[in-house]
Amino acid sequence: MSFVVAIDGPAAAGKGTISRAIAAHFGFQHLDTGLLYRAVGARVEAGEDAVAAARTLTPNDMARDDLRTPAIAAAASRVATRPEVRQALVEFQQSFARLPQGAVLDGRDICSVICPDAEVKLYVTASAEVRAERRYQELSQSGMSLTREGVLEDVLARDARDMGRADAPLVAAPGATILDTSQMGIDEAVAAAIAEVERAGPP
Ligand code: C5P
Repeated sequence: MSFVVAIDGPAAAGKGTISRAIAAHFGFQHLDTGLLYRAVGARVEAGEDAVAAARTLTPNDMARDDLRTPAIAAAASRVATRPEVRQALVEFQQSFARLPQGAVLDGRDICSVICPDAEVKLYVTASAEVRAERRYQELSQSGMSLTREGVLEDVLARDARDMGRADAPLVAAPGATILDTSQMGIDEAVAAAIAEVERAGPP
């Protein structure tokens, strides 16, 4: 029996931390679907065609250590506007969701397109300023040299592209519970998300 927790939301809202905590708490497998788009974006930056890259992604592509950079995030959100790229990644995500031990998937279209029948649907968000500050702290701690203004600009540009695209735009899907983490610490946000999963009666 599968049990799916689908989590969407804009960049740096806390989806990754919340997803990993839910997976650890309930013993589910976790897929960060943004990594798929980042891996395609990285191959496009290296000169490949986006659709060809999406159709031939390998575990090695997903393991590259530069996928978290702002340049690759921007490349990911550009390739993510292409319907053929999105289509090429659907099957992998939906088969991950059928894993018998339960699955958490986080991204932009998980509740709306990939797993509309998920047992739990969450839309995790926060104000753009709060998200940019969190991303700034995270990236500068990993040694990158950035400015707060630059990070905020990147977050706003990615929001506009992800919410404005024609195919599978980022939306709070019908039936999704909205979790606004602007005023929450991470422990509080994780506890609220775990409570939401508990309400759905996990296996
Ligand atoms: O979640 P993350 O920031 O790693 O995602 C990188 C980009 O990949 C997003 O800005 C978005 O354009 C794209 N994406 C998507 N659909 C998903 C996950 C990510 O379009 N399910």
